[in-house]
Amino acid sequence: MDFSEAKRELKKLLKLTAPEHVGRLLQWVTSSEEVESLLRDNRSVILENIAEDLRASLPPDATLPSETFAATKMAQCARRTVHVDSFLLDESLVDSMCEEGKLSRSFCGHCGSTQTEELEFVSHSFSAPELRFLFLNVLPDLTGRTLVDVGSRLGAVLFGGHEFSSAARLIGVELNEDFVKLQNQIIHKYGLQGRVQALHSDVLLQGALLQSADVLVMNNVFEFFLEPQQQLRCWRFISENFRRKGCLLVTVPGVQESFSRLQETPPCDWLEELPVNYDLYLTRDPTQNESFREIHLYRVM
Ligand SMILES: C[S@@+](CC[C@H](N)C(=O)[O-])C[C@H]1O[C@@H](n2cnc3c(N)ncnc32)[C@H](O)[C@@H]1O
Repeated sequence: MDFSEAKRELKKLLKLTAPEHVGRLLQWVTSSEEVESLLRDNRSVILENIAEDLRASLPPDATLPSETFAATKMAQCARRTVHVDSFLLDESLVDSMCEEGKLSRSFCGHCGSTQTEELEFVSHSFSAPELRFLFLNVLPDLTGRTLVDVGSRLGAVLFGGHEFSSAARLIGVELNEDFVKLQNQIIHKYGLQGRVQALHSDVLLQGALLQSADVLVMNNVFEFFLEPQQQLRCWRFISENFRRKGCLLVTVPGVQESFSRLQETPPCDWLEELPVNYDLYLTRDPTQNESFREIHLYRVM
């Protein structure tokens, strides 16, 4: 059933529903657990299995000892910040880890014990609902297209793209070799190698790949991992090589915000922002809805 047919059927159903129950029915559709679990299809289950495999290979905070720069950046944040990877841990897992004392949402400002002030959670990966939204509601049909994820880390974008899109090629470029090994283990275990590839490389060495990409994804890729001058160098390189008219760029946060954090202005005449309908994917968790609004879509001019 396509969208128009489903809409027709829903209109029929709403006409048949007693007027005093219409409000309750609509609320149930948009915010009930029953509907949410109905929407959990096989593709989401595959992503859950991949997340479970990755959790087994990583420490609870899903960072590596080799990530010393990122650890220093986290320690410099204005509010006490910890990494909680939202591809690996959904809200219910975070809740149960907090109950078991494996994770805390707060700490004591005096002695550092986990008692009073709220901790800031940062995720270095997209969550499964964000990936679903990205591929089903933000991006167009990617049949035959090449998508490149700049800084692919655990491979969440590649695996999400494999399940929720028809992209011909999903290629991750990642600086950290340990993460590339982890991505490759998953690619081989789940037989994704026909469409998915993980490259161990600095994006600065991938001019030809950027020129061949139809879609580029940049999820908070540089802020915690590179010095401001290196970040600007990467942005400049990407804006010089990802230039084919009509190609799409997805960023978190928006390009304007990334550049203003670096106290610079984005290259002019490179991109135009396209509208995203965030209301298409409202979840019961309002903090998650906020993170969806950080996803921006641009077209190369
Ligand atoms: C926030 S994570 C992005 C995760 C992933 N794209 C996602 O959305 O789930 C950023 C990753 O980019 C990598 N990275 C940073 N600078 C890079 C560069 N110049 N070239 C390749 N990877 C880079 C980091 O090592 C880190 O793993």
